[in-house]
Amino acid sequence: MTILLLGSGGREHAFAWKMIQSPLCDQLFVAPGNAGTAAIATNVNISPTDFDAIKTLVLQENITMVVVGPEDPLVKGIFDFFKNDDKLSHIPVIGPSKTGAQLEGSKEFAKEFLVKHNIPTAAYDSFTAETVEQGCDFLATLKAPYVLKADGLAAGKGVLIIHDLAEAKEELRNMLVGQKFGAASTKVVIEEFLDGIELSCFVLTDGKTYKILPTAKDYKRIGEGDTGLNTGGMGAVSPVPYVDAVLMEKIETRIVKPTIEGFQKDGIEYKGFVFIGLINVNNEPIVIEYNVRMGDPETEVVVPRLKTDLVELFLAVANEKLDEITLEIDERSATTVMLVSGGYPEDYEKGKVITGLENITDSIVFHAGTKLENDTVISNGGRVLAITSYGNDFQEAIKKSYQNIAKLSFDKMNFRKDIGNDLL
Ligand code: AMP
Ligand code: GLY
Repeated sequence: MTILLLGSGGREHAFAWKMIQSPLCDQLFVAPGNAGTAAIATNVNISPTDFDAIKTLVLQENITMVVVGPEDPLVKGIFDFFKNDDKLSHIPVIGPSKTGAQLEGSKEFAKEFLVKHNIPTAAYDSFTAETVEQGCDFLATLKAPYVLKADGLAAGKGVLIIHDLAEAKEELRNMLVGQKFGAASTKVVIEEFLDGIELSCFVLTDGKTYKILPTAKDYKRIGEGDTGLNTGGMGAVSPVPYVDAVLMEKIETRIVKPTIEGFQKDGIEYKGFVFIGLINVNNEPIVIEYNVRMGDPETEVVVPRLKTDLVELFLAVANEKLDEITLEIDERSATTVMLVSGGYPEDYEKGKVITGLENITDSIVFHAGTKLENDTVISNGGRVLAITSYGNDFQEAIKKSYQNIAKLSFDKMNFRKDIGNDLL
């Protein structure tokens, strides 16, 4: 098969790393990719949302499958673009339809889906500029802290958790009337605050059946001890030690099954990943969000633990034969630590030369924001490299990641030194 993978982060390098190990994969293109994918596949300088350019490439290179990494092309409808084009309709796209992608593209759509299918989620209501005063009244009926969510995609910044009622009302006005998040906050979902431990559940579905992938926990804040600004994720651990069989069973029967059944009942075409964000409140898992893709950096620990051929899994998804596959998981733990540019998630510089890559032993380096310039790997984003290691437990794995990080450097390199410490 000739496969096209869309995206350019650590998640995509991890997918690429796994896919090229498959005997089914003859050639892999990545658009646009990074220095890591350039070393193992063919990068093409095309944006994942430039559907016309993607079509030209697919026809020119006789591509037989498209795997979508990030949410943007999914929310913009790449699945439907292929399905509705005579020349492309026979080529499977791994990812949900445009309607399915609304689970991530619109918080209100997700909440309506959850309520309709009786899936546990926080109580909520949604408001627009016209109903902003009702929104303020609704806030007054809730207990602090207040959770405000911009309806649309806001690059992971659209959720505000505010302790003071007056400030919450002010921010609601900023979002709805002041367009704080542009078009993404034309609508705002106000949600009951849930107090508990966060966890994520990753599912791969062909729209009818599903496989639950290994659990993973990410570390969202920039600072040690989970302090400071939110990032895309500073590290991850898989499996999550505190998720036991009893909790998994609840997640599967109350959340995963009704979600997939909900797709069928609502006629939503969905052939891809579902990433369910949960909060465990007194051992009761409650959904806080859906994402329609894999997590990053969670992919960098989940994919290395998959023993099953990933291309075979994607083919089974495309052919609606996922039930015929047994998922094999590596018993070992995997951890990853993100090396980021100084200043990230605020302003940072790019173009820094990365040294020491050739000295890494016993870890996998997944590139995120990197590119090649005159055969030299330089930084090209906030999150630069993810250093993944295996171990008999996560302590052993994380030790290896940190030992290898000591060999790497670039100007203003930053990383969290406490990944996994909360699990001890
Ligand atoms: P989201 O973009 O929906 O994942 O929200 C970002 C973060 O806000 C989550 O990772 C949680 O830490 C937090 N969050 C979202 N919804 C709630 C809620 N209802 N109660 C408490 N925390 C929440
Ligand atoms: N690491 C969280 C995400 O990918 O959304």
